[in-house]
Amino acid sequence: MNAVVQLAGETDFDGWRAAARDLRGRGVAPETVHWTAGPDLFTPAPARCAAASPGRFSVPRGFLELASAAICHRSTDRFALLYRLLWRLEREPGLMALVTDPDVAEARDMANAVSRAAHKMKAFVRFRLLTDVEPETYVAWFEPAHHVVRRTAPFFRDRFANMRFSILTPDACVHWDGAEVIFGPGASPADAPAGDSLEDHWRVYYASIFNPARLKVRAMQSEMPKRYWRNLPEASLIPGLIEQANERTAAMVAAEPAVAKKRAPKVAAAQESPEPAPAGSLAQIAADIQSCRRCDLWRDTTQAVPGEGPNAASIMLVGEQPGDMDDLAGRPFVGPAGQMLDRALLEAGVARDRLYVTNAVKHFKHEPRGKRRLHKTPVAGEVSACRWWLDQERARVAPKVVVALGATAALALLGRAVPILASRGRPFELADGAACLVTMHPSFLLRLPDEPAKAEAFGRLVDDLRQAAQLAMGAGTPARQEN
Ligand code: URA
Repeated sequence: MNAVVQLAGETDFDGWRAAARDLRGRGVAPETVHWTAGPDLFTPAPARCAAASPGRFSVPRGFLELASAAICHRSTDRFALLYRLLWRLEREPGLMALVTDPDVAEARDMANAVSRAAHKMKAFVRFRLLTDVEPETYVAWFEPAHHVVRRTAPFFRDRFANMRFSILTPDACVHWDGAEVIFGPGASPADAPAGDSLEDHWRVYYASIFNPARLKVRAMQSEMPKRYWRNLPEASLIPGLIEQANERTAAMVAAEPAVAKKRAPKVAAAQESPEPAPAGSLAQIAADIQSCRRCDLWRDTTQAVPGEGPNAASIMLVGEQPGDMDDLAGRPFVGPAGQMLDRALLEAGVARDRLYVTNAVKHFKHEPRGKRRLHKTPVAGEVSACRWWLDQERARVAPKVVVALGATAALALLGRAVPILASRGRPFELADGAACLVTMHPSFLLRLPDEPAKAEAFGRLVDDLRQAAQLAMGAGTPARQEN
């Protein structure tokens, strides 16, 4: 060996490229180079430091893409293999098309394995909520098959943009604080919480989407290999669900065919329901909502999400409907919109635990898109059907001020559509004397494309929450008469 290259880390692709370019420029043959990667970032890499002319050799783009993936493989030979390919490419420009070439095949296998590992990480990371930590923070422990933490970090940042989280792995950790992605050294399982209150909801959700008639044990085990099971709350259910699958499928086949429901008449009937909304205890209301069949939204959800907060809160916040995470957690505003709301409340100096937080619609309306459940806006009939529950909550809590977060909540509270921006600032008076302030929904802020617009909208939301707090303290008078 006459060259030793120490890369700055296991996935130091830039370092590998710089060193490979340098070595090739100096004509250093692959078999004479020893590659290592390690935590010692400050050790100078001899081959990389030596001055050399890189020459005029450019590699196909496909090679760089393949190399940037393959370098994340755990094989200790990967750096050498990739340099060997680079070396050969100068003399064999069509090399990458030779899929039977052993070096090409090995590099492709590595890149594919890395891509599978990244996919598994995106699918099987499960966050746990840290207890007693402010602001709300989620932590996940995961053991990826290859070095894919950096590769998957943009996915988690974008998917959970408004959630503070850390993903801990034995190789590296990634932290997101809502503004910056930070990478750190590896951790151990003891650094992550073992479970939390969200896990039961995961299990309820998983059991409810498990279709015994579609069970293919082999496919399931290849999609969800056992090595990932120990971090999956739902894994404990799998053996039981597999065991019962035949019996459940037989019962499904033997059952009477289900008669298709007609959605529109059902919703319309609920709208016209003459029943008054009795004011039971909040706990009773929350329990009763679980069996609500006033419209069809309950069918595809994990559970209904009732409001939460003190019995006699002077301010009630009404959102649109639970989101994906809220549906799993059984609590309103715990997902990305909730994070935004929490920030605005903090800025306004309003404590969330003094408010009653609920939604116009208590079930998560969504449509499947691949593995994701995409939010769908509830229609007027669904809002109207669910108003029965909102009225019960209002009757029980009797807030002085009700804040409608967005158009759906305004529709539920005022019984008609109002323009949100034009309606801000001037409270409506509801039939029970409560003041109703209309403001933007926190998700609206999340969708704004640029930072200045986001900051401006955030400022308005904060102002509106402050105004609600002032009204609740008796400052200001409601102006408009509403139902
Ligand atoms: N989560 C809720 O509980 N309500 C919303 O309107 C949005 C997210």
